[in-house]
Amino acid sequence: MKKMTLCAITFLLFLLQVQAQHKKIFNETDQQKEQRLGWWLNDRFGMFIHWGLYSMPARHEWVKNYERMTDSAYQKYFELFNPDLYNPKEWARMAKNAGMKYAVITTKHHEGFCLFDSKFTDYKATNTPIKKDLIKEWVDAFRAEGLKVGFYYSLIDWHHPDYTIDRVHPQRPKDPKEYDELNKGRDMAKYRTYLQNQLKELMTNYGKIDILWTDFSFPGEHGKDHNDWNSLELIKMVRKLQPGIIINDRMDLNEYDDGGDFVTPEQVKVSEWPTRNGKRIHWETCQTFSGSWGYFRDETSWKDNKQLLVLLIESVSKGGNLLLNVGPTSRGLIDARAQSRLQGMGDWMKVNSRSIYGCTEAPADIKRPDNTLLTYNPTTKRLYVHLLDYPLQRFDLPGLKGKVKYAQFLHDGSEIKMRTTDKGDITLNLPVLKPDVEIPVIELVME
Ligand code: GLC
Repeated sequence: MKKMTLCAITFLLFLLQVQAQHKKIFNETDQQKEQRLGWWLNDRFGMFIHWGLYSMPARHEWVKNYERMTDSAYQKYFELFNPDLYNPKEWARMAKNAGMKYAVITTKHHEGFCLFDSKFTDYKATNTPIKKDLIKEWVDAFRAEGLKVGFYYSLIDWHHPDYTIDRVHPQRPKDPKEYDELNKGRDMAKYRTYLQNQLKELMTNYGKIDILWTDFSFPGEHGKDHNDWNSLELIKMVRKLQPGIIINDRMDLNEYDDGGDFVTPEQVKVSEWPTRNGKRIHWETCQTFSGSWGYFRDETSWKDNKQLLVLLIESVSKGGNLLLNVGPTSRGLIDARAQSRLQGMGDWMKVNSRSIYGCTEAPADIKRPDNTLLTYNPTTKRLYVHLLDYPLQRFDLPGLKGKVKYAQFLHDGSEIKMRTTDKGDITLNLPVLKPDVEIPVIELVME
């Protein structure tokens, strides 16, 4: 009897554990989720846009924090913000030409300034010299180019008077004992209402929104977590207003399986397909051309064309997406450095995008040759070998005997002759001259 009770208790504990691991907010099956995310999983490559008042100091979007600026010191940017050369149609054309299929723009960053016309604040673009809802024009322009549109929205707010001072706030005290004093009169409940109201505006006033990208939670002492934002209610509201929307993972709802649709490794190279409870999860890495998200005039550590292409290919080769950032200037232009990089990617994508769209990690039994990255399209059953270091003529594909029907360069569709070696490997006969593309791709039509 005792033994049976023990068994029952163990079983119950096990069930509770399983349930805890699979806490869910929504009634959506895995299959329905895959469908909702279908376009995003296919498209793989998007543009991130960080734009706000911080484009004026032009020394990082965290400048208010880094330099511990007060609201009044920061006010000059608000009073003078006038992006007179802003033409989102041009941005959209550049994104599309680069091969990007979707874009996510900062509607409000941590500084609290709203690029959109919100009823709930005066701290917005319509009250600056430009006097426009910059988001409205942006949405129209990007949609017109056939790009999916996403809103970044900062949960953090360094301007709202009710937002309590925390450890990443520009007015954070040196002595932790001062927090209470500093936060007297600040009321996070009011800020939560503000958050809710603004997200409601964004989810109602601009038509169909494809992505919501919230940023970010930092639980712990003098931090902010899902309770501070009321994340559970927020995500429910957003999904209700925009049933098809895809949402990132920064609202601190990790205890739920569906508290975010994808994870967001930032500025890091992902070494393998990320997992959760042993299961592969959807992911998108966000990256900058240089070290900053906002326009940074004097930043010089810009990635080159090849590095950027590797970033994209490598993401797809591990089943992920790339959201690549531009930080437009305060005049409203994407500067020459960013333009040339977008162009470089576009030149490559124009003839090689088949190895990106609809592609994912290659089947596990396929061995990756040295100095290459593999992607695979499960629908067309084509395998893509990206040659990072162009080899000299003979190129072996171990273990693929009997599996390859045809081989060609992707950029010009020209046949690559192949033969089977005595060992049973496939060997390709590449031309000595490296084709005139940054990273040549071999397309293998599989049996
Ligand atoms: C961060 C930064 C931020 C940037 C974002 C992009 O968490 O706070 O400035 O917007 O990441 O992922």
